[in-house]
Amino acid sequence: MRIVILGPPGAGKGTQAKRLAAELSIPHLSTGELLRRAVADQSELGQKAKSFMERGELLPDRLILDLIGEELRKKTYASGFLLDGFPRTAPQAEALESLLAERDWKIDIVPLLQVEDQELVRRLLGRARIEGRSDDTEEVIRRRLAVYNTQTRPLVDYYRQKNVLTEVHGQGTPDLVYDRLRLAVKATVA
Ligand code: AP5
Ligand code: MG
Repeated sequence: MRIVILGPPGAGKGTQAKRLAAELSIPHLSTGELLRRAVADQSELGQKAKSFMERGELLPDRLILDLIGEELRKKTYASGFLLDGFPRTAPQAEALESLLAERDWKIDIVPLLQVEDQELVRRLLGRARIEGRSDDTEEVIRRRLAVYNTQTRPLVDYYRQKNVLTEVHGQGTPDLVYDRLRLAVKATVA
């Protein structure tokens, strides 16, 4: 199964993706997590990524596409995956499509987690207090939301037109959201 989970910052992509990927026995690939690790390791990629991430801006598509292209070639992803945080722009979605087509693969389902802005901000500020992620300040959260709205939201229609989009109400407890997500995914595969 090949899944792309969509939703604004704080929608619960990471929280839900981890659980769904474990249940489906497929790897969870989060570009944000990959990049945060690269920043912590001070690798060449990390050094390039740091300032973009701290400002809440997206990295250049080229950089992300090189990263994902290399990652998806690994054997781990041969029988399915759950992508979280990628694609995030129209060029990334198109590049993913060609990358999959080369292998005769396609995306089976794109769950979109829907959460109101006020709740997104509340969650991310809450996480800032616990985890101290460097992009969880009020100013950067606002920027990330704006970037989502202009650069990533168009992918909702892109995937809707491909008949793979499924909307999932993302508010309520993580368990409740997971039940809805699980149902949506099962309904598609069945
Ligand atoms: P990324 O790491 O992808 O961040 P994001 O999209 O801003 O989303 P988050 O990870 O903050 O939120 P989430 O939806 O995963 O929610 P979570 O489960 O954590 O990207 C970070 C940066 O990397 C980007 O800004 C960019 O610079 C760069 N980047 C990454 N990918 C890129 C790409 N493809 N192209 C270019 N640049 C890229 O939940 C959030 C909080 O809410 C947590 O505290 C959680 O415990 C809590 N929570 C979750 N569910 C619930 C619930 N149901 N009720 C209450 N609280 C909840
Ligand atoms: Mg995340």
